[in-house]
Amino acid sequence: SHEFRVGVAGLGTVGASAVRMLARQDEQLFARLGRRVRVTAVSARNRSRDRGLDLAALTWFDDPVALARSGDIDCFVELIGGEDGPALEAVTAALEAGRHVVTANKALLARHGVKLAALAEKKGVSLAFEASVAGGIPIIKTLREALGGNTISRVYGILNGTCNYILSRMEAEGLSFEECLRDAQRMGYAEADPTFDIGGFDTAHKLSILTSLAFGTEIDAEAIYVEGISSISPIDIRMANELGYRIKLLGVAERTKTGIEQRVHPTMVPKSSAIAQVMGVTNAVTIDADAVRELTLVGPGAGGDATASAVVADICDLAAGKAGPPFGVPVAMLRKPERAKMRLH
Ligand code: HSE
Repeated sequence: SHEFRVGVAGLGTVGASAVRMLARQDEQLFARLGRRVRVTAVSARNRSRDRGLDLAALTWFDDPVALARSGDIDCFVELIGGEDGPALEAVTAALEAGRHVVTANKALLARHGVKLAALAEKKGVSLAFEASVAGGIPIIKTLREALGGNTISRVYGILNGTCNYILSRMEAEGLSFEECLRDAQRMGYAEADPTFDIGGFDTAHKLSILTSLAFGTEIDAEAIYVEGISSISPIDIRMANELGYRIKLLGVAERTKTGIEQRVHPTMVPKSSAIAQVMGVTNAVTIDADAVRELTLVGPGAGGDATASAVVADICDLAAGKAGPPFGVPVAMLRKPERAKMRLH
């Protein structure tokens, strides 16, 4: 069967990793999928930057929208970022043109996910976003495909690698907030605008996606109570420690009597708890459900290779012809979420 042609827009940490990974895994993917997966075209802001990639054989597009519309790709991979602007334009254009879309863009999905999923459905193509939440952890697949026998009551976890990295190093090495943030940026964990990380908004974007999948509801990011970690000082961390606690930035969504409650805030967790053991850029997601009781996935939450791993997983599913509604059920069957009356602690 014919090759599966991939166009990648955005060649930052994740994009460059994904292009390299597809080349490196070429033979293994061919064996598994029975067809070649090949990056044929790319688009990025800066053509001359050295990314350690050989772009010579690829078609270059200055405009991601032109790449999205190109008739020479089967799948458009959006790694541009941003909740509106070129990312939204390009994803919309790709879906309109009948291309499958793979995206890591949680901000875009938090804002436009339902609309984009409806467009994908209408055009008979897929919108895949494993890389949008918790980096290399296959949490989207788990929620969408593996828990049909369950009713989920709660989903929560550490969803931002940058924040967990900062809190971990502040505690272990007594470093300042700013120093830890700079290192997180240097290692490619932080968002282009790190306010999204430390302000809790990135966690909120990811949580809104998990909530939708866990509860079969439309994304409702506006309903989330958000508090970040920028006011956490070394003294807070030391005090918590002395009391037997660790401070973690958690995203929590749960079904309550009055509706679905979604919140993001720094939380004191007992040092003996499982979630307190999660250190560094690692993420963890726990699902409470009636049949499996409690299920926790732990893994790398950010970084080029870990996130590219999720991008490649989506590309493989599409190349294998696996489709299905982006949010598990057709958009028309997603319920309007009933917001719980907020009750903080
Ligand atoms: N800035 C994000 C994080 C990247 O630190 O978790 C992954 O979405």
